[in-house]
Amino acid sequence: MCGIVGIVGKPNATEIIIKGLEKLEYRGYDSAGLFVANDTTSSLVKAQGRIKNLSDKLTPEVSGTIGIGHTRWATHGQPSEENAHPHTSQSQRLVLVHNGVIENFEELKSTYLAADTFIGETDTEIAVHVVEAFMNQGLDTKAAFKKALSVIRGSYAFGLIDKEDTETIYVAKNKSPLLVGLGDGFNVICSDAMAMLEQTNRFVELVDGEMVIVTADAIAIEDQEGHAIERESYEAQLDLTDIEKGTYPYYMLKEIDEQPAVMRRIIQNYANQEGEIQLDADLLNAMKDRDRIYIIGCGTSSHAGWVGKKIIETLTNIPVEIHLSSEFGYNMPLLSEKPFFIFLSQSGETADSRQVLVKINELNYPSLTITNVAGSTLSREATYTLLLHAGPEIAVASTKAYTAQIAVLAVLAKALGQQKGLAQAADFAFVHELGLVATAMESIINEKDLISELVAEYLTETRNAFYIGRGVDYYVSMEAALKLKEISYIQAEGFAAGELKHGTIALIEEGTPVLGIITDEVTGAHTRGNLKEVESRGAKTLVLASADLAKPTDQIVLPTVHPLLSALLTVVPTQLVAYFATLQRGYDVDKPRNLAKSVTVE
Ligand code: G6P
Repeated sequence: MCGIVGIVGKPNATEIIIKGLEKLEYRGYDSAGLFVANDTTSSLVKAQGRIKNLSDKLTPEVSGTIGIGHTRWATHGQPSEENAHPHTSQSQRLVLVHNGVIENFEELKSTYLAADTFIGETDTEIAVHVVEAFMNQGLDTKAAFKKALSVIRGSYAFGLIDKEDTETIYVAKNKSPLLVGLGDGFNVICSDAMAMLEQTNRFVELVDGEMVIVTADAIAIEDQEGHAIERESYEAQLDLTDIEKGTYPYYMLKEIDEQPAVMRRIIQNYANQEGEIQLDADLLNAMKDRDRIYIIGCGTSSHAGWVGKKIIETLTNIPVEIHLSSEFGYNMPLLSEKPFFIFLSQSGETADSRQVLVKINELNYPSLTITNVAGSTLSREATYTLLLHAGPEIAVASTKAYTAQIAVLAVLAKALGQQKGLAQAADFAFVHELGLVATAMESIINEKDLISELVAEYLTETRNAFYIGRGVDYYVSMEAALKLKEISYIQAEGFAAGELKHGTIALIEEGTPVLGIITDEVTGAHTRGNLKEVESRGAKTLVLASADLAKPTDQIVLPTVHPLLSALLTVVPTQLVAYFATLQRGYDVDKPRNLAKSVTVE
């Protein structure tokens, strides 16, 4: 999704901005641009496509001590150079980058900008014209920016430079993430700390509605009433090596391989030496008498929620509902009397989930965000937070965040069940079982050659594919299919095995791949029956089964682990299936078309 970087106070602003934009590439974008300036010159350069296209256009003259850069993921107006940011005001004096969506852009245009002409079709261009319209009424830049903020409705993170004052970046945010980073003799802005880690690891969070004046030596935060705000900086707990690929060809492969380590890190972070789970007592007290848990998320996070539902219901006896954020917010179901909300979000920034949290907060219901990013919007705005400790996930296709979400939901379920005095929770030797899962994951990760060969045999030519399973194996099937379709573009669906015959079986043709997941004795027998049904209609079947239930003909055999944690293991070969299918088709594994890592628009 769109990314912002900016710097004031260093002579090589162009280079720093390009490097920062490269660090944001993983989030998904379709054009990029930058503006740099010093006392005497300024340059605005934009390009469609990859950052490389932008770098190729830079000449030695494109240099400055101040600058802002942007990666754009199209919302208003197609991907093009004209629509790429930064955008300029009518006189070209003001230059603006923006993440988010301005809801009242048409109204702003007709109210303030009737005589203006526009280069592109974006809402951002309207915003920067509005700031200048207020300057034309006699206001200085700061006052005009502030007045513009008061009439703009929607989500935004803004970085604004006035060419006549090349020592200041004006910054503001509402609902979209933006940080200010502190340097020695310089300061930076960025939508994600990772972008500027090479420059600094000290950041200041901004709150919705605030405006910040950033110069080389100072930052001045003001609230909407103009009161000065003092805020402590924090040190980003990120390591540059976490965001490097190292010897891996793709981040996705690195992140698949990191999963055993992530499982062990979750144990270290949530259990003591005796293997007892240590969780915030306030969180457990807030949850224990709740009559229903609502898990809210999108995409892969929502799929992790389905597996979490099974674990939580089994260990805590509290019913759990799973809802897609984009549906829940505008189509809220009838809630129970004492609901508790869990927001699952790797990034902690997904706008669809955030709009639900805003509504839940208005209703005064307690909530927990489970996220990979400390200090993210969803983390700050929920009552409680649990971190995934998965390390930055860069590949758009989520892998280690999915398994970490399930493991952390299991941590929560175990602790909550014990808090409620339930025998099934006390009897579940979670830390030991998760340790076994980590070891079992390693054995699957070592089977890359086998999985690559199976992919060559089953998926090289095909147009579509199906994953089937029942219960938790069905939940994993949904995630397995999402992984396959989002990066290899094979049309893939995850189905409840028994449901296939009620319609979708019509799609089975000679050679259609159907991958069955089997980890449960009773439902597994039925799934085998469903595989026979599709085989007899021409499907080419592939079975992933746990060792205790495997037949000699099964192609992928997984170590048997505790049934509540089986998804953590079965998903790993399906991640590798997606990876190899994509590689064999020659697509970019880490940056699939049309997708963004963190979707900050609804
Ligand atoms: C995007 C990503 C998905 C992710 C979803 C939810 O669509 O491409 O991989 O599952 O957002 O993201 P979140 O950060 O809220 O988990």
